[in-house]
Amino acid sequence: MQTITIACRKGGAGKTTIARNLAVEAERQGAGPVAMLDADAMRGLAQWWESRKAEVPMLAALRQLGDKRPLQRGELAAAVQKLQAAGYRLCFIDTAPEAGPIVEEAIGLADLVLVPVNASPDDLRAIHETLAIVETVKAPKVFVVNHATRRATLTGLVAVKLSQHGTVAETTIHRAEVFKQSAIEGLGVQEMEPSGVPAQEIEGLWTYVAGRLRLAAGLPYEAPTEAPRKRGIELTIQVGEQRAAKKTRKRAS
Ligand SMILES: Nc1ncnc2c1ncn2[C@@H]1O[C@H](COP(=O)(O)OP(=O)(O)O)[C@@H](O)[C@H]1O
Ligand SMILES: [Mg+2]
Repeated sequence: MQTITIACRKGGAGKTTIARNLAVEAERQGAGPVAMLDADAMRGLAQWWESRKAEVPMLAALRQLGDKRPLQRGELAAAVQKLQAAGYRLCFIDTAPEAGPIVEEAIGLADLVLVPVNASPDDLRAIHETLAIVETVKAPKVFVVNHATRRATLTGLVAVKLSQHGTVAETTIHRAEVFKQSAIEGLGVQEMEPSGVPAQEIEGLWTYVAGRLRLAAGLPYEAPTEAPRKRGIELTIQVGEQRAAKKTRKRAS
């Protein structure tokens, strides 16, 4: 199993957005079974998953329902181990906008760290904050420029600035309403608007990330192949308790 951690100290950079959309896309392209861990106490990823009808990608609960104790060091590592043993091929870890021990652990578990950065003047000014956490990351890391506007020279500036400190993903994610709408409905942009530009961008970003994961695993580079344009890959391995919990919650609502 390979683990992708999405981290950036700045809130609103797009960590949760990128985590859920890439997880959906990875599953859709057959890279699954895909699991997700929400290491942010705000539970943005978990809430999205709870409002989702499909059961894949699977969110592995780190806590029983209603248990609000903060995560302790070692719990993420134990969860990653369990998922690996259960046969998951990919695990996404979404993190909080901070630089505490849990984010550090999530980064330490990663085969690849994705660092989303908003293409905004504010974020460009505060970029040293993002870099401070990232400079210490030993795993391969990739910046993802998010929230870009179509004609902005700012996007280019942000990418050039970031490229002084690491690899920048070839695919930029532009600002689009469907990212917000799909979040409310528990969907990925590719499920809500399969032929839209955001869906294409997420597909491109996943293809790029999959290439980086191959490199991280010491495998030779492989030219991307055409992705199957359909959904509905069924998981053979399910975390039984979780599945039952989700059904119970659905019945209750
Ligand atoms: N490319 C985008 N276009 C439009 N809205 C976006 C985009 N990326 C993120 N958002 C929105 O911006 C807000 C913050 O994104 P989120 O993923 O929650 O950031 P983080 O997890 O880094 O705090 C959310 O409302 C999300 O829907
Ligand atoms: Mg978040």
